[in-house]
Amino acid sequence: MAIRTIVKRGDPVLSKTCREVEKIDERILQLLDDMKETMAAANGVGLAAPQVGVLKRIAVIDVGDGPIELINPKIIAQSGRQNGAEGCLSVPGVFGEVERPMHVTVQTQNRDGETVQLVGHELLARAFCHEIEHLDGKLFLSRVTRFLDPEEE
Ligand code: NI
Repeated sequence: MAIRTIVKRGDPVLSKTCREVEKIDERILQLLDDMKETMAAANGVGLAAPQVGVLKRIAVIDVGDGPIELINPKIIAQSGRQNGAEGCLSVPGVFGEVERPMHVTVQTQNRDGETVQLVGHELLARAFCHEIEHLDGKLFLSRVTRFLDPEEE
């Protein structure tokens, strides 16, 4: 495993649409492992492949219950609403309130290539939305309704 460099806001790679993963080979598994290590080292809740400069539909998430790997994820159902603070490892030091669904169901492939469905509530639902938007070149900044000053919170 290796820690990769996290791309920061302003890099054009963050605004591109990522390609589907067609074959889960050794390079993809290495990328997943590196992304998990990079996310953990940065104390992040999630990391999408474009944030390490790779335009593939891959993301990792850890809301504290252990890492989740997403390959070609899609949101297939969502309900409810939540408003809360959000940040991004590519936009260090910036936090803002973003409205997200409270419950999200994602269809994704796992590292064995199986298609599975994952259900997330609260923070995990938020992380699913945030990371999957990265794969379509969107940052959370465009959804912020109010920027938060971490010094005041
Ligand atoms: Ni992010």
